[in-house]
Amino acid sequence: MNISHRAASFQESVIREMTRLHVLYGGVNLAQGFPDFDPPPEIIEAACRALHEGCNQYSITWGTPRLREAVARHATEFLRIPADPDTNVTITCGATEAMIAALMALLNPGDEVVIFAPFYENYGPDAILSSALPRYVALREPDWRFDPEELAAAFTPRTRAVIVNTPHNPTGHVFTRAELETIAELCLRHDAFAVTDEIYERILYDDREHVAIGSLDGMRERTVTISGASKTFSVTGWRLGWAIAPPEASIGIRRVHDFLTVGAPHPLQEAAVTALNLPATYYRQLVRDYTARRNRMVQIIQAAGMRPFVPEGAYYAMADISPFGARDDVEFTMYLVKEVGVAVVPGSSFYPAGWPQGKQRIRFAFPKRLETLAAAEARLVPALSGR
Ligand SMILES: Cc1ncc(COP(=O)(O)O)c(C=O)c1O
Repeated sequence: MNISHRAASFQESVIREMTRLHVLYGGVNLAQGFPDFDPPPEIIEAACRALHEGCNQYSITWGTPRLREAVARHATEFLRIPADPDTNVTITCGATEAMIAALMALLNPGDEVVIFAPFYENYGPDAILSSALPRYVALREPDWRFDPEELAAAFTPRTRAVIVNTPHNPTGHVFTRAELETIAELCLRHDAFAVTDEIYERILYDDREHVAIGSLDGMRERTVTISGASKTFSVTGWRLGWAIAPPEASIGIRRVHDFLTVGAPHPLQEAAVTALNLPATYYRQLVRDYTARRNRMVQIIQAAGMRPFVPEGAYYAMADISPFGARDDVEFTMYLVKEVGVAVVPGSSFYPAGWPQGKQRIRFAFPKRLETLAAAEARLVPALSGR
């Protein structure tokens, strides 16, 4: 039996494949972006309480009232997007499901969706699964900004949406207000939606500010703002995300979400309320801890003889491997996972097929304990510094 043309038209995730190779060869996994430390104890306790107190059946499809209220408050206060829990908020199984549900709710076959490259690898298959055509615009090294003229040229009469991921995976770029205003202006001119991925909204370095494009003038009515609990609260396995959208878009998103998954895990939704009610000190400590990890990661990349691209946010660092003379990023990544025992992700997996930009780049993920980073250093530096 053959699989469908649709399923045949994209590959399995390279990032998750690297994690599988890591399990096979052992060593240190700096490929997939998940923490190797525990979430805050109070939210684990809240999850246990919810399991004991009867939250074990389906919740309301689009999310428990308490969690939708907490997300609406977060949107209103932190993102500066006034949100109503009943008409604007849908709770999903991760930002991943929110993205595919939003695209399926907004796009028709033949519609175009603008995607910045490099990109988090889900967006390509998401576009295909929603029968839309991706149009890619380059984020350029070394600071990963786009050329406004190239972006303007990518918008056509068929453009229905642009995906905006800030802070950005894999580059760590934090889009400035001015960059977001340029994107917003094009959305308004072309009657297009911004569909965002703000999953790293709380992880920013060097006093940078997170700006939500949905908070800019005229954008609230044409933005789906997506985020979730995975990264902010170190619970990537809980699969809890949300989409904040204008009422009509919310109706579409809820409809798709209902038939994709019925609903997100009920007891964990309860625990996420506790998470979103953590005090401001939690977020300050999160930034301090990630800043220490970021600085350490950059230092290790340099000590191993590579050029780092210092991230402004999120928890990934791209590195230039051209000093080593490897044929390409895939060959080098396989050498690292098999011979050195460090799993990373080849840069080309963040670019459209055929684009050369990622061929001498790899991505390190650093949501790890400092001991884990030290173990990676102990493998990388002796193997690479003499190469
Ligand atoms: C940019 C980006 N969006 C979404 C996700 C996944 O989010 P979730 O766990 O909420 O599905 C990731 C995970 O690495 C990511 O890097």
